[in-house]
Amino acid sequence: MAEAGAPILSARHVTKTFGAGEAGSVVAIRDLSMDVIEGEFVCLLGASGCGKTTMLALFAGFLLPTAGQVLLRGAPITGIEPRCGMVFQSYALFPWKTVRGNVEFGLKMQGVGRAARREAGQRFIDLVKLTGFEDRYPVELSGGMQQRVTLARILAANPEVLLMDEPFAALDAMTRQVMQEEVLRIHAASRKTTVFITHSIDEALILSDRIVVMSARPGRIKAVLPNKLPTPRHVSVQLSPDYTALKAQVWRLVESELQAHDETSRAVAPKP
Ligand SMILES: Nc1ncnc2c1ncn2[C@@H]1O[C@H](COP(=O)(O)OP(=O)(O)OP(=O)(O)O)[C@@H](O)[C@H]1O
Ligand SMILES: [Mg+2]
Repeated sequence: MAEAGAPILSARHVTKTFGAGEAGSVVAIRDLSMDVIEGEFVCLLGASGCGKTTMLALFAGFLLPTAGQVLLRGAPITGIEPRCGMVFQSYALFPWKTVRGNVEFGLKMQGVGRAARREAGQRFIDLVKLTGFEDRYPVELSGGMQQRVTLARILAANPEVLLMDEPFAALDAMTRQVMQEEVLRIHAASRKTTVFITHSIDEALILSDRIVVMSARPGRIKAVLPNKLPTPRHVSVQLSPDYTALKAQVWRLVESELQAHDETSRAVAPKP
């Protein structure tokens, strides 16, 4: 089980401050420590502005900590980390490349030859159910399809860790549910370590092995809750008393932070 495994990612007393000078600086994260265990699916929840994206960018090596350390397999991350693949909220596809071109892009960057690229690319296009759309351009696809291309592109690059920043926030409820099922299926098959940011408590409950609730800014860990809801999960799990109880527990934790946040600035409430 995930709990017994070794950490693949660790934040050790991480502080991240943006801007210099007394007046102009923002402490986004303060003294945050957390571990992500190999193979697990962790959801990060917290009020808007609490530092979730910042933490993910630190895990990806896009940002470096002001103090403390971020470790991948025990070694400090010192720059952009190719072993961590990031999926952003916006689809971030190349509009001038086809589905196939987008999916194969990371492989091309890795120097994978044409034939191998084609074969691997097709495997992931099939996996995200875009077979037949290989030669379409992003503009010809729906939002859900574009996000599936993004997912295929990241999976094809085969990172050790998937970092996902509210990847389904822009999708309608039904497409979002389909995408959640897709991600669960892929995770069950690959057991790829995943850190997933969401504003939706329901999404966190459906997807995660563990839920990490962050405090209001400056972000720290408020609580870590194991999610023992039975797997494989289906939306019907939402009808169980265990689901309702865990949801209430998470909601109370998030709500108390919203109140803390409200005292200093406007907060955007996560959807219950
Ligand atoms: N590049 C930057 N320069 C200055 N301040 C920044 C920068 N990036 C983030 N911040 C600040 O750091 C804090 C945390 O931002 P972050 O984007 O990590 O929050 P978040 O939890 O992802 O919020 P949301 O849920 O709205 O996406 C915010 O106050 C934000 O304004
Ligand atoms: Mg964010």
